[in-house]
Amino acid sequence: MLFQHVPVVAALLAATATEVAALPKRAQQQQSLLGKHRVTNVELGPRPYYLVDNMAAGPLKDRLGACSEDSMRPTKFSISHRGGACLQFPEETVESLMAGTRMGAGIQECDVAFTKDRQFVCRHDQCDLHMTTNIVATELGAKCTKPFTPASANGTAASAKCCTSDLTLAEFKTLCGKMDGFNASATTPEDFLHGTPGWRTDLYSTCGTVLAHKEFIELVDGLGLDFTPELKAPAVPMPFEGGDYTFEAYAQQLADEYREAGIDFSRVYPQSFQFAAVRYWLEHEPKFARQAVLLDESGDTGGAAGFEAAVANLTFYKDAGVNIVAPPLPYLVELDAENEIVPSSYAIEAKRLGLKIITWSLERSGPLAAIHAAGQKGKPDYYYSTFFNATTRDGDIYRLVDVLAREVGVMGIFSDWSATVTYYANCMGFMS
Ligand SMILES: *[C@@H]1O[C@H](CO)[C@@H](O)[C@H](O)[C@H]1NC(C)=O
Ligand SMILES: *[C@@H]1O[C@H](CO)[C@@H](O)[C@H](O)[C@H]1NC(C)=O
Ligand SMILES: *[C@@H]1O[C@H](CO)[C@@H](O)[C@H](O)[C@H]1NC(C)=O
Ligand SMILES: *[C@@H]1O[C@H](CO)[C@@H](O)[C@H](O)[C@H]1NC(C)=O
Repeated sequence: MLFQHVPVVAALLAATATEVAALPKRAQQQQSLLGKHRVTNVELGPRPYYLVDNMAAGPLKDRLGACSEDSMRPTKFSISHRGGACLQFPEETVESLMAGTRMGAGIQECDVAFTKDRQFVCRHDQCDLHMTTNIVATELGAKCTKPFTPASANGTAASAKCCTSDLTLAEFKTLCGKMDGFNASATTPEDFLHGTPGWRTDLYSTCGTVLAHKEFIELVDGLGLDFTPELKAPAVPMPFEGGDYTFEAYAQQLADEYREAGIDFSRVYPQSFQFAAVRYWLEHEPKFARQAVLLDESGDTGGAAGFEAAVANLTFYKDAGVNIVAPPLPYLVELDAENEIVPSSYAIEAKRLGLKIITWSLERSGPLAAIHAAGQKGKPDYYYSTFFNATTRDGDIYRLVDVLAREVGVMGIFSDWSATVTYYANCMGFMS
């Protein structure tokens, strides 16, 4: 009886090996969303302990080290970024979400983009399917806004542009989620799928299960966690296809999907970089807006003056009724004369105005060596370099988290690897 299964297992193994190579169309092994239960045995893996071991000697290292044998619980201070495990798992998939949940994330993120039939799906960008799924190597690649173009001999990079709005929900659901990236030298669609940075991994990139937003709600509700959907900026002119699907209808749909699923708005932290979306919720869905998170990267341009303008504009947001702001984490800290990390002018002003603060994203940029070399490329970067210049070892992550938690007073921190924040929160008492 047992032996009869051997050929089946061998065939499955062979199929898996092919998938790793080319990520073909989703196979039969669709993950069931049903039957997911609450995760009570939180597991953090070796990374938090590695980070503590890497800290310079001092009281913080001693305190964090003293928790090494404690058991860990989920906490809302630990907010999943793109599922909470996209350091190693394909972002915005069931697998990233389950791994982030296993690592104690108490609030789960789905970045929300719409399909051609106006259904919501979880994708970081409306037009990132060519980088985060296997679409170019499937027949759906022909439907892309810009189908795959190979690299040419004269040095022109390979390219494609594939948007959720190019596909119906049913089509989207046939795709495999993969690690974010692409191969600019690719001459074939299959080669274009490769491009994962060396400090991430393709170990789990074996056809990630992509999600409709409604499935995300069902899954996260079943896990007993809170929700932080981010309404992404539309990448096509609105109203979509010249019809009645306006930006306002798009913003309304987000509140509607939680209401229709029977989710109390106290469990939802809707986010957007688009002030227009937050303003819409403030005017039309005040209960939904109460925990709305205004994502702020307005200080990224214009050097120090641009940053001070972002600080000054916090008053505008407060007056408009915003309760929670979420800048990138380097906005919240600076260095004092002794090279200690301290709260920045942004952090001090937000606190003075009574704004709550969430920040993003820890564990995004790889080992510090890579951060120093590549930094946050493309961002003119007074404030990123202030912080990165002060960090010399991996363990400095916890120096930063400690200032954010205890001095800036953030409500929570988004992370690509939830374990890192969960460990700090459990050890230092930031549980909610
Ligand atoms: C390189 O080749 C591509 C395709 O063959 C062509 O579209 C492009 O204009 C060329 N670029 C240059 C700089 O010659
Ligand atoms: C990128 O594409 C080129 C050309 O198709 C191929 O030779 C190369 O091996 C690819 N790189 C990776 C990492 O797959
Ligand atoms: C403040 O932010 C709002 C909304 O994003 C924007 O319209 C306004 O121009 C900003 N004000 C300043 C002074 O930058
Ligand atoms: C960070 O270090 C680089 C390289 O030494 C330097 O050019 C830059 O000015 C520093 N940034 C800040 C804000 O001190």
